Amino acid sequence: MTARLIDGKAIAAQVREQVARQVEVRRREGKRIPGLAVVLVGDDPASHVYVSNKHRACDQAGILSFQHALPSDTSQQALEQLIDELNDDPSVDGILLQLPLPAHLDSRPILERILPHKDVDGFHPYNLGRLAQRLPVLRPCTPKGIMTLLQASGLKVRGLDATVVGASNIVGRPMALELMLAGCTTTVCHRFTRDLEAHVRRAELLVVAVGKPGLVKGEWVRDGAIVIDVGINREEEGRLVGDVEYAPAAERAAWITPVPGGVGPMTVASLLENTLYAAERHDAMELEITPS
Ligand code: GUN
Repeated sequence: MTARLIDGKAIAAQVREQVARQVEVRRREGKRIPGLAVVLVGDDPASHVYVSNKHRACDQAGILSFQHALPSDTSQQALEQLIDELNDDPSVDGILLQLPLPAHLDSRPILERILPHKDVDGFHPYNLGRLAQRLPVLRPCTPKGIMTLLQASGLKVRGLDATVVGASNIVGRPMALELMLAGCTTTVCHRFTRDLEAHVRRAELLVVAVGKPGLVKGEWVRDGAIVIDVGINREEEGRLVGDVEYAPAAERAAWITPVPGGVGPMTVASLLENTLYAAERHDAMELEITPS
């Protein structure tokens, strides 16, 4: 079997166009333009690239984006104060704290300080708890984007044996929650897993999010599997590769995401969807608290 490609670039472009159309409808109806505040601390080069992609995507969708670039010696208290200001700012519908933070800062209390209804990354325990209890509100962007890829490719996942490799807060854990919500029988592998190969071989749906090139051997992939590779690793020669050995995996899988152009573009597309959704809920909340 030779796998069909799951074209993240094309699907992300469709999602972004749909968000742009909905933002335009809001504008014509005289509603507020959604606003996203992006907070970046320090000078991590990859984070700068991600943040500028997010601003560009907002511009193209007609969403306002407010950039808060803070120096690497910013204190915990100053960062908390900025979050409080953004929480109170009615023009801000979504707040995104770009991770990782410099080592002297603790991300957990900051992420928990973001009001859950402005948490467009879906990292607040409220939003993760809602997802865990099958009542999703704002959902973490990369796993949500993967669910969009599966749906847009016409793939039904209910009842599948799914294996998630990697148990990070950003991807692996919320991915497992999404897959359970969608009706998969879900296994999560992590650094203490004894026999990764056995769990991969069993998977009808495989999601790998570790950040180690070639971690999953192509020959482990089950015939006819759906393979979602979240890894983006730069080889010494500059080429981008995922966590799965692509060529041998593509010979066995039925569907596979390429790297680049698979999962990567979906994270930003989901962020735009979440920002629009947050704005719509924000309007509804204001209606509730405005006396008639
Ligand atoms: N760093 C790497 N991925 C992400 C993400 O999805 N959101 C944020 N805020 N930071 C990240």
